[in-house]
Amino acid sequence: MDYLKIYPTQTLNGAIEISGAKNASLPLIAMTILAKEAVTIGNLPDVVDIKTLLKLLSKLGASCKFSKKSVHVDTSTINETKATYDIVKTMRASILVLGPILARFGHCEVSLPGGCAIGQRPIDLHLKALEQMGAEIDIKAGYIQATTPNGLHGCEIIFDKITVTGTANIVMAASLAKGVTTITNAAREPEVVQLCEILAQSGVIINGIGTAMLEIHGTDGKLLNIKDFDVIPDRIEAGTYLCAGAITKSEITLTNVEPKHLGAVLSKLEEMGHTFTLSKNTICIHPAKEMKAIKIITQEYPAFPTDMQAQFLALATQAEGVSIIEEKLFENRFMHVSELQRMGADITLNGHTATVSGRTQLSGTDVMATDLRASSALVLAGLVATGETDIHRIYHLDRGYEALESKLQNIGAKIERLKE
Ligand code: UD1
Repeated sequence: MDYLKIYPTQTLNGAIEISGAKNASLPLIAMTILAKEAVTIGNLPDVVDIKTLLKLLSKLGASCKFSKKSVHVDTSTINETKATYDIVKTMRASILVLGPILARFGHCEVSLPGGCAIGQRPIDLHLKALEQMGAEIDIKAGYIQATTPNGLHGCEIIFDKITVTGTANIVMAASLAKGVTTITNAAREPEVVQLCEILAQSGVIINGIGTAMLEIHGTDGKLLNIKDFDVIPDRIEAGTYLCAGAITKSEITLTNVEPKHLGAVLSKLEEMGHTFTLSKNTICIHPAKEMKAIKIITQEYPAFPTDMQAQFLALATQAEGVSIIEEKLFENRFMHVSELQRMGADITLNGHTATVSGRTQLSGTDVMATDLRASSALVLAGLVATGETDIHRIYHLDRGYEALESKLQNIGAKIERLKE
């Protein structure tokens, strides 16, 4: 198994090119199940989660040719509708195939994903909405077994909670359903917006894109003419590297980024004392002389993203004063706290709230990555710790960050990938 060794870094300097968004790519790849002809998706990140979903589509019979930053997917050859446990257990987002497979083939089986490091993460809202659309769903022997005896029909869906993959799943199912589906309390994340935009360019009428109220006019089974397209830049990867600039007090520039998607993150960094030079597709961070403590509450987009909570927690250990970070979305998303404490961070956890007293000098030691974003928080901490930090179980990191160590090495970080 690989691990990362991080040596203390003075300052970083240079530019980092941001990859395509993992969380946008996943629903967009699942969406190709609705396509009439093969589609090429560009600006895809080279990360394990994307390969996992492509492997799942290949197992279903699709042809997926991955080359560098793009994939050519032909789903016309799909001859299987069961997403088996061996794949789903490694990536919960596999549930994204449920809506499109059911809409196209009228039946689908997807393994229940099982436990997750950051919380329970139920999928009840996906299933309830599909039932409202006419699906019959049974849970048997660890599998969701869904059929549509009379096809899927449009209806009025009100999500009790805002769910990102839930919204994506239902938008995809509704695209091929008969009639109009409305979704109230829909997710407004840029990744959902891109999915809706591509569907809208492919023959589905969708009103309210980017709002909490979507109206989808289904094609009644008619497959979609999806043109080739590029995935939007990864706002979470971008936010993570902005934190790398902030924590090491370095000026770094991000390219191929969409500043509009980073509003809440930039505004928190500004509150901490950093400034920025922005252009259409670049962000340059100018570090704070002295970082101020912050108060953060994670919420759905456009508020502060839960996927940036761990990185800001690491940052808060280097800010002057007491920072308060409240996690509202996932009940167990503080696993990185005990690892940061082992490095000397002064953090008190009380339910969903972490109180971080800074600034503390962190010391390098052996730490364990527990989930994707927690892993990047440990990398940030390692950059400013004294001595060496060895981060184990970095397979979590490889799920979502493309070439993290070479991107950081290129701007001056001393970081190596080694074998246990
Ligand atoms: C997506 C992102 C993930 C991000 C999260 C929140 C992908 C592949 N993953 O995850 O990186 O951290 O959004 O921004 O895009 N919930 C239910 N029932 C459901 C569905 C969700 O109770 O059926 C709850 C969840 O437990 C959680 C909240 O709703 O508390 C939000 O979850 P959701 O938006 O669905 O997260 P994901 O789509 O899994």
